[in-house]
Amino acid sequence: MAAKWTPDSWREQQGLQMPIYRDAAALADAEATLRNYPPLVFAGEARNLTAELADVANGKAFLLQGGDCAESFAEFHPDNIRDTFRVILQMAVVLTFASKLPVVKIGRMAGQFAKPRSADTETIGDVELPSYRGDIINDIAFDAVSREPDPARMVRAYSQAAATLNLLRAFSGGGYANLHQVHAWTHDYMGRSPWAKKFKDVADRIGEALAFMEACGVTPETVPQIKGTSFYTSHEALLLPYEQALTRQDSLTGKWYDTSAHMLWIGDRTRFDGSAHVEFLRGIGNPIGIKCGPSLEPDALLHMLDTLNPDRIAGRMTLITRYGHDKIEAGLPKLVRAVQREGHPVIWSCDPMHGNVIKAASGYKTRPFDRILAEVRGFFAVHRAEGSFAGGIHAEMTGQNVTECTGGAIAITDEALADRYHTHCDPRLNAAQSLELAFLLAEMLNQEMSERAKQAA
Ligand code: PEP
Ligand code: CO
Repeated sequence: MAAKWTPDSWREQQGLQMPIYRDAAALADAEATLRNYPPLVFAGEARNLTAELADVANGKAFLLQGGDCAESFAEFHPDNIRDTFRVILQMAVVLTFASKLPVVKIGRMAGQFAKPRSADTETIGDVELPSYRGDIINDIAFDAVSREPDPARMVRAYSQAAATLNLLRAFSGGGYANLHQVHAWTHDYMGRSPWAKKFKDVADRIGEALAFMEACGVTPETVPQIKGTSFYTSHEALLLPYEQALTRQDSLTGKWYDTSAHMLWIGDRTRFDGSAHVEFLRGIGNPIGIKCGPSLEPDALLHMLDTLNPDRIAGRMTLITRYGHDKIEAGLPKLVRAVQREGHPVIWSCDPMHGNVIKAASGYKTRPFDRILAEVRGFFAVHRAEGSFAGGIHAEMTGQNVTECTGGAIAITDEALADRYHTHCDPRLNAAQSLELAFLLAEMLNQEMSERAKQAA
């Protein structure tokens, strides 16, 4: 790694998973345009998120991070934003209610466009074209013009991110997220799910608690947390020309922040020694995630933590493990032990999605709900055994009634995948499956909290 960091020092390192733009002038144009656009988030917000995440690192809060695998230009619609936001709120309410812990909410939203791919090209019949890399880079349609990386897409993605964030800010602060609305956060198609009834019970009890508190003088006017909530955004910092253009020096502290989102993470395919992505992230003040898959060795992880968090700031690093349901119990303990031995403050978060992708008989890429749950169970079991805190969940989900992951209480079969399979990349949990996951997580988290209380007594 170069000793001196600058917003463009990543260009001297090995940059994988990024497109080669043929039109250099168009690229320079898009970068210049973005450099003059306003920041999407403010440095102080990124610092607030670090502080909230420090509570998670210390076992005093839980992290809920979720949203699309890939946002797309085609699915850009206020209802989609609202519905995903609403499921995240519902999940947070369920988790808070069960664990009595504050839940830090972060969307994979307002910027989650660029995708790492396992192959550079895709072949259909005898036609070979560049792989689709997300709407910020090229178009999913399978023809040569669509698949050509187009820098102007970065500017369009910025606009979509700005409009999405604007709506999210309005929802979080403008009354939609008011806890008194908890009954109104329902999805009309969830009626058949046993978890919809369970959510109503939780909402009833919250309503009673609020009425009681109100009688005692605790109202949304006196306690702003009832009136709204903090909600943060995140995405994989993959397309570095875009991230660099939005990286600004904070006038208050002189530190650099990537103002494209509050939190940025590095993917499992770009987290290696000598990576341009590691180099870029080490210089920004935002909280950072690292995807940790089965090939990550403890020494490489420790080296990355020393590089990315030399000052060992609690809340800066979130380790998002994504092993697969059958690999987590064998693979995760060695990472936990190494991190504990070296005393790095980290959040352990479980991504039960990316290690559990299979191809269904129907040909669709899917994730069986029971494997997702099995990975979450394995995650809690490992942390219980190692004495570490199972502090977060990272899910690909949507508020839409899609049929992309099989299983769940309203069981989606292999044959039903074709009904509403809309994702531009990986299969997502639908609203009913997300809520179901939250209830099952709440049970595990509850158990973890009561065991911790017993140990502390
Ligand atoms: C993702 O989170 O969409 C992703 C590509 O994950 P990973 O880097 O863990 O494969
Ligand atoms: Co994905």
